[in-house]
Amino acid sequence: MFLQYLSEKKYDQLVIDYITSETNYDFIEEIGVGAYGVAYLLEDSTSNNKYVLKRMKTKHRHKKKIRHKFEQEIKILKEINLPNVPALISHGDIRDTPFYIMDYVEGKTFEQAIFREGQTFSVEQSLKITKELLEIIMEFHKKGIVHRDLRIPNILFKENRLNIIDFGLAAYKKNEVPIEEITNPKRTENHISDLYFIGHFLLFLLYSDYTPSKKKEQGWQEELLLPPEVINYIERLLLIRSPFSSAEDALQNLSLISKAQAQT
Ligand SMILES: Nc1ncnc2c1ncn2[C@@H]1O[C@H](COP(=O)(O)OP(=O)(O)O)[C@@H](O)[C@H]1O
Ligand SMILES: [Mg+2]
Repeated sequence: MFLQYLSEKKYDQLVIDYITSETNYDFIEEIGVGAYGVAYLLEDSTSNNKYVLKRMKTKHRHKKKIRHKFEQEIKILKEINLPNVPALISHGDIRDTPFYIMDYVEGKTFEQAIFREGQTFSVEQSLKITKELLEIIMEFHKKGIVHRDLRIPNILFKENRLNIIDFGLAAYKKNEVPIEEITNPKRTENHISDLYFIGHFLLFLLYSDYTPSKKKEQGWQEELLLPPEVINYIERLLLIRSPFSSAEDALQNLSLISKAQAQT
């Protein structure tokens, strides 16, 4: 048992040793630690191109379910193969712990922009970003994949071009999930999950431009002072009102709102 124990810190060193001795990359720094994985920035010493190595946390290596999920993350990343998703370069194991290497996405996550840099997004900008996001998500769904974790740390942007990372919770899309059977929209294995996350994502963008008044906290519908058609739209994403039938349906309805906005 004693020999089996390997702290994440010691394992970090094994990863660094592996990169240095087995690949053409240089180790630059650790860039993210989550519940299941750790991500590092690498650089190709000849081309100077940057890459990211994401590995499973080594403490999970004997847990079948978590391993399976991580392996599925690699499989889905390989299958998705779209310009707005980092390409999978290679994958393997270091001491029985899986990892993969992907392209590094230049830019910042919406979490960094909003919470670290205090960037704000107007209603118009927020809707434009949502439109771009829906266009990308439509492509995922066409490939039979739902992301199920479209949160601000998993969406990056550079000069208005979006990139989606972290397929750790992604799943293969099931076609018919009756709406009355959905108890947890975040975990639903169809478009409902992604649209629900996009509803919350849009609220994060809109709240970036909100300064709380002294009055007590209210719901977003009261606080954000949005045009009624935007409120209605978000309520449909969040399943407060009748949901959209697909990402495409959500996208079409969004262009109707944008048109209405432009006319006012
Ligand atoms: N390909 C990438 N390009 C740029 N940054 C990345 C990339 N992959 C991960 N990151 C950074 O590392 C963080 C954690 O990676 P992520 O795949 O989301 O792992 P976790 O499952 O721990 O959330 C991200 O929020 C992002 O800041
Ligand atoms: Mg993440």
